[in-house]
Amino acid sequence: MAELLRVEGLAKYFGGIRAVDGVSFKVSEHEIVGLIGPNGSGKTTLINTISGIYKPNKGKVYFQGEDITGLDPWEIYHKGIVRSFQVPRLFHKMLVIENTMVPFRHQKGENPWIAPFHHLWRDQETENAKKALSTLKEFQLFRVRNNWATELSGGQMKLTEISRSLMSEPKLLLLDEPIAGVAPKLAREIFSHIVRLRDEYGLTFLIIEHRLDILFDYVERVMVMNYGELIYDGDPEGVYKDPRVIDAYLGE
Ligand SMILES: Nc1ncnc2c1ncn2[C@@H]1O[C@H](COP(=O)(O)OP(=O)(O)OP(=O)(O)O)[C@@H](O)[C@H]1O
Ligand SMILES: [Mg+2]
Repeated sequence: MAELLRVEGLAKYFGGIRAVDGVSFKVSEHEIVGLIGPNGSGKTTLINTISGIYKPNKGKVYFQGEDITGLDPWEIYHKGIVRSFQVPRLFHKMLVIENTMVPFRHQKGENPWIAPFHHLWRDQETENAKKALSTLKEFQLFRVRNNWATELSGGQMKLTEISRSLMSEPKLLLLDEPIAGVAPKLAREIFSHIVRLRDEYGLTFLIIEHRLDILFDYVERVMVMNYGELIYDGDPEGVYKDPRVIDAYLGE
C-alpha cells in the first residue's frame, strides 16, 4: 500500500531530556497503528513534533512524499494531518455542536464580504450542520449537542474532540489516548468507529493508547517507545514476547 507518512531520525529535546531520540518509521495508507510505551516515553512529544507543535532538533517528516518538517501546525493540518489531544482542548464557551463545526474548510460565512448575504452561505452551513449532527449521533453525543463543552464528562469531551477532528476531512489522524476515561463498552465502540472510518473513507490512524487489551483487538501493527526510542514495530502478538518491550514495561 502507498506510503502516507515517513519519519526519519526524528529527535526532540527539552534541555537535557531526549523526549524523542532518533525515531524512524513509516505508515501506509489505510493502516491503523497503535503507539504504546510507558509514561514519559515520548509518545505525545512524537505526535506533537509530527503535527508541527514542536520543531524537531533533528530528522525529517514526509507526508505523501512531501517534506513537511518544521511547517507550522496549521499548514500541516491543511495538508490533512489532524491530531486530538491527551487532554481534550475544546472551546469552553461554545456548545458541543458549535465545537464540532469549527473545523469545516472554506466556510463561506467566515468571509466578511460574504457573511452579510445569508443566502450565499446558508446551504453550506446546513450541509455542515447535518454532517456534524450525524457524526455526533454516531458518537452518542446527539443528546448533549446543545450543552456547553464544559458540561461534558471526560469521556464525552474525548468523543467531541474525535468528532471534531473528522469534520476537516483529514487523511491521517493522530489520536492521543482517545479512550482514556471512557467506559470499556464505549471504548470498544469508538475503536469500531475507527475501523469503519478506515474501511469506508480510507482514513489512516496512529493511535496512542495505554489500554492494550482493547487497542490490540483493533490494530494490526504496534510501535513501542521507551526513553524516546522506538524499540518495537510489528504485530500485536509479538509485543508481549519481545524482551526489550517486557523490560521496558517491567524493568525499573
Ligand atoms: N514541554 C515540555 N517541556 C519539557 N519536558 C517535556 C515537555 N513535554 C514532555 N516533556 C518530557 O519529555 C518526556 C516525554 O514526555 P511525553 O509527554 O512525550 O511522554 P508520553 O509517552 O506521552 O507519556 P504519557 O504516557 O504519560 O502521556 C518526559 O520526560 C516529559 O517530562
Ligand atoms: Mg502522552
